This record gives sequence, structure tokens and C-alpha cells, in this order.
Amino acid sequence: MAEHPLLHVQQLEVRRRDNREAPLVGPFSFDIGSGATGLVGESGSGKSLTARALLNLLPPNLQAHSRQMRFGDRELSTLNNREWQAVRGAEIALVMQDPRHALNPRLTVGEQIDEALRLHVRMRTTQRLDRVLQVMDEVGLPQSRQLLKHYPHQLSGGMGQRVMLAIALVNRPRLLIADEPTSALDTGLRNQVLDLMMQLADTHGMGLLLISHNLPLVARYCKQVLVMYRGQCVDRCAGNALDQATSPYTQALWNCRPSGHTFGHPLPVFDPESIEANAS
Ligand SMILES: Nc1ncnc2c1ncn2[C@@H]1O[C@H](COP(=O)(O)OP(=O)(O)OP(=O)(O)O)[C@@H](O)[C@H]1O
Ligand SMILES: [Mg+2]
Repeated sequence: MAEHPLLHVQQLEVRRRDNREAPLVGPFSFDIGSGATGLVGESGSGKSLTARALLNLLPPNLQAHSRQMRFGDRELSTLNNREWQAVRGAEIALVMQDPRHALNPRLTVGEQIDEALRLHVRMRTTQRLDRVLQVMDEVGLPQSRQLLKHYPHQLSGGMGQRVMLAIALVNRPRLLIADEPTSALDTGLRNQVLDLMMQLADTHGMGLLLISHNLPLVARYCKQVLVMYRGQCVDRCAGNALDQATSPYTQALWNCRPSGHTFGHPLPVFDPESIEANAS
């Protein structure tokens, strides 16, 4: 990891505001640098809460604490709501799982991408339109001038995902958080969208936090991988070392991946007692 990572997080915790139970996430420390970082773990392990904490977008009954959350030269843990609005969507952007739920059905594609831009920059309408068309081109949306006037229900799944990516990228964020960004897509489209995200991250030097259940995909795309279990980080390794992981939980996750080898066979079961939290 580089000496000054893009994001440095120390002892992040997500708790219920009533403080009734143990933290839902953490304490969890990690760095995000250049190249993609994968965040994996079974359902309910705390991946989305971690992502939401990084954007100060937790549900009202939860709150995040951290010793440090340094993003470039800025400390995120001390930002007020107004300051967060300037960071979120502009410097740190989020792509969610399913465009059918995340896009506003009443606004056209053009209006939704433009809205994201208008919130953060002062530009003339014509300049904004140029930027909207440019980002649509970057994410591979064809015939962008006609598409500007389309509504979400007129889009295919792959196109909807690209519109969400355009919204996330229109302000050229320094960090993109993608929470299961392609799980609603078929394999061909999934690889296209991921290749595109990686290519854009490379071209613009953008950090990428990729949350996924798909371990082979994470192994292929991510430089480092953080493995979560019941809110704790139980393993971290290089993406290309996932298949040789020594942690029993990571091994179990890897062995549970659906593949030609596992088809028709019972999936392995792991022993939770064998897992030790690794929050350092
Ligand atoms: N608002 C909330 N109040 C209380 N508990 C919550 C709340 N939101 C989530 N949780 C709990 O926190 C845990 C982590 O949830 P989270 O959504 O981060 O899981 P995840 O790893 O993203 O799972 P998935 O892979 O299914 O998306 C779960 O046990 C969930 O039930
Ligand atoms: Mg989730």
C-alpha cells in the first residue's frame, strides 16, 4: 500500500444509536489506495453498512464512530452535514445494486445525470450538457442525445447500470464505492460494466471499493481484498492470493463460490470458532 493512501480508516465502528448491542461493524481499520479494493463476506456481514458509513449515509437508527477517516488531506469524521454534501457525490460516489430501484422513475436520464452535476458545480446549461454527454460517452451509452430524454423504464438492465455509473462519475470522484454493482446483470454485461469501471478508475486515478459476493470476480479485479464476518474484518489479502487464503473463513468463502466444480455437490461448512477477528 502506498505511503499516503487515498482513504485511511482507523477503528471504524457502526453502532445502534441506543447502544444496546455490540457494534454491527468493527472496530475495522483499512486503507484504500489506487487499484480496486474488494470487500467480501456473507450476507449480513456488514459490507453495505461499512460503505454507507464511508459516505455518512447510515439509516437514522445507526451511527458511525472512528478514530480517523482521512480522505486525502481531509478528515471525514469531523465533517458536518453541509460539508458532507460537498464531498458525497462529488469526491466520493456510490453505485448501487439495482438501477430499477436506484434511479428516479419520474426523471429522464438527462435530468438525473444533470442533477448530480448541478448539485456540485456552477456551470452554464450548455457546459453542463457537454459534460453530461461526455460522461455518457465515457460509460458507453450510445446515441446519448436521444437517450437523454428516456425514462428509466425504457432502459435495459445494462443501460440502467451505465446511467447509474454516469451519475456517479459525472463529477469525477476520487473514490467510487460500488455496492454489488453488477449482481442484477447477466455475465456478459457484468464483465463489460466491471471492465469499464476498472478502465475509468485507471484513466482518472480513481480509487474503487468493490463490494461483491462474487469471489472469482474480486480475485480477478482487486488488488487487495478485505474479508468481513459478523461485522469484523477477519482476513485481508491480495486479490490474486484469494485462492490460497490461509484464513478458514476466506477458504470457506472461496470454496463456496459457484462453479462447474461445485455444481451438484454439497457446499462446505466452516466452523465459526476457527475465526479470529483481524481489525489491525
Ligand atoms: N438500520 C439497521 N438497524 C439495525 N440493524 C441493521 C440495520 N441495517 C442493517 N442492519 C444489520 O447489520 C448487519 C449488516 O448489514 P449489511 O447490510 O451491512 O450486510 P451486507 O454484508 O451488506 O449483506 P448483503 O451481502 O446481504 O448485502 C445485518 O445483520 C443487518 O441485519
Ligand atoms: Mg449489502
